[in-house]
Amino acid sequence: MCGIVGYLGNLNPKDVIISGLKKLEYRGYDSAGLAILHNGETKLIRALGKLKSLEEKITSEQFNGHIGIGHTRWATHGVPSERNAHPHKVRGISLVHNGIIENYLDIKEELVKQGAKINSDTDSELVAHLIANEVEITKDLKKAVENILDKLKGAFSIVVMWEKNPNELIAFKDGPPLVVGLGKSENFVASDVQALISYTNQFIYLNDREVVQLSQEKVRLFSSQGVAIERKPIVLNWSPELVEKQGFSHFMLKEIYEQPRAVAMAMEPHILNHRVVLKNVGFHEKDLHHLDQIDPLKDWETTQKEFSKIERIFIIACGTSFYAGQIGKYLIENLSQIPVETDIASEFRYRQPIIPKNSLVLTISQSGETADTLAAIRLAKEKGALTLSLCNVKNSSIDREAHGHLYMNAGPEIGVASTKAFTTTLVVLNLLAITFGKVKKLISEEQELTLVQELLSIPSKMEVVLSYDKYFQTAAENLKKFKGFLFMGRGVSYPIAMEGALKLKELAYLHAEGYAAGEMKHGPLALIDERMAIVMIVPHDANFEKTVSNLEEAKARGGQIITLGSGENERLKSISLTYLPVPKAEWNLNPILYVVPMQLMAFHLACILGYDVDQPRNLAKSVTVE
Ligand code: F6R
Repeated sequence: MCGIVGYLGNLNPKDVIISGLKKLEYRGYDSAGLAILHNGETKLIRALGKLKSLEEKITSEQFNGHIGIGHTRWATHGVPSERNAHPHKVRGISLVHNGIIENYLDIKEELVKQGAKINSDTDSELVAHLIANEVEITKDLKKAVENILDKLKGAFSIVVMWEKNPNELIAFKDGPPLVVGLGKSENFVASDVQALISYTNQFIYLNDREVVQLSQEKVRLFSSQGVAIERKPIVLNWSPELVEKQGFSHFMLKEIYEQPRAVAMAMEPHILNHRVVLKNVGFHEKDLHHLDQIDPLKDWETTQKEFSKIERIFIIACGTSFYAGQIGKYLIENLSQIPVETDIASEFRYRQPIIPKNSLVLTISQSGETADTLAAIRLAKEKGALTLSLCNVKNSSIDREAHGHLYMNAGPEIGVASTKAFTTTLVVLNLLAITFGKVKKLISEEQELTLVQELLSIPSKMEVVLSYDKYFQTAAENLKKFKGFLFMGRGVSYPIAMEGALKLKELAYLHAEGYAAGEMKHGPLALIDERMAIVMIVPHDANFEKTVSNLEEAKARGGQIITLGSGENERLKSISLTYLPVPKAEWNLNPILYVVPMQLMAFHLACILGYDVDQPRNLAKSVTVE
């Protein structure tokens, strides 16, 4: 999705904007641009394609001034092109925009009637026209922005600059995220803190329908009705290195290799003396800034009290987070006997879901900004459910909406394809399942101890999987000759099959399907021939024998089989074209280990095919529009 950076200060705005936009590249984009104001004139430069094209265009340009805005665009209205790129400039107003203006056709018709000359196909330019018209009357940019807000329907964030006031940026958020960065005699606004952490560690997150007025010296926050709001900044202790590649060829590879540490960090806050004690879930704590300060023991009591009332759980998410949620269903149902429904957020929000009394709605979202998941949590609250969010980004929109809060603790994930956010989610889901099992008195202290010990052994087992990377690379070499891929597994390995197929689709642009292995006879068997690779996930769990039978069936029809199994296994080896061993673990933890070869094979195959692994085509990291 689009990335926004705005700057006021004594550094060269061009440098701050380009460096910030580079940090936002992970969001996905197809064009970029910047506008810088100097001596009452705006220098506007835009380019189709990656930031490199914009940088090439501006190398010969001289930039002065203290204020500017920049943007990376992910096309929604109008093809990717220079004329559709942002900023849009209309009579001294420059604007960048993220999101969608749903009633743009009506606005366009009205503007054309009034004689406006529209230069792009975007909904964004129309907003610049509305503000330009209004500022001619109000002579005040903030008022002009406030006055037009009621005319716009949709989910959108904007940052606006006006030639007549070279010390002011106005930003408004209703949907896509915006965060203000505070500095000394300089201030920033951006779509994500990652754009700004090399400049400041003090941030104010905007809530929906808030307006912010930035000058070099001051930041003032208002409701959309113009009422002043006081909000203390939060201090983030992320080091800038966390968002660098640190010697890896790609962010994705770095993030895959970070997983042993990331999963350890995910469990660390919630394990006390080999017991699961969920830390500071903060049910009903309104101010997220206080989460770190609440009394952990009191909070744990509240969490257990809330959980003891729960009779049904809904897990709602999109994409990779949804597959993690499906594994969560197996874990929670097995350990606590509480029925769990899983739903894709875009389906849940429009299917008029029936949510009985005493339900918990758990949303999973790495970014915490996914539009459909955000809408789902709002709907769940409307219907009276208790809500719990599991996010990687603290203070993100979904995190702020939820009654209770859990975190993946994975650190920034820059590669568009999710890796460490997935495995850390699985760790937290295990902790949650154990907690429900305890609350429902189905897990004894002894069982808990064993479950925790197994969990604690996972980081080192992941290290072992990573040490086999050269085998996954060789396997990837062999995969390039196939026309299609079927990933299959049973039980908790079924969502892993879907995740494996998704990784291959999004990175290597190859057709892959994830299936429950037991479904093979009901259709997919017809696809199998020697050009079809079958990736079978066969851990040594309760489904082992049944999955091996499926494997034999596929082999008998000429399927080329790549098998992942627990440790050395001669039987599996003899049936498979390629056999890849994964360390033995308990059934509930296998998904955390088995997904790693999937990530690495997709990564290597995409590299072999020459694709952009960190930013696959057409995809965005943070899907803030539905
Ligand atoms: C795939 C991937 C996506 C996301 C999905 C939801 O690798 O990353 O499928 O999982 O867009 O995103 P979040 O978790 O941010 O809600």
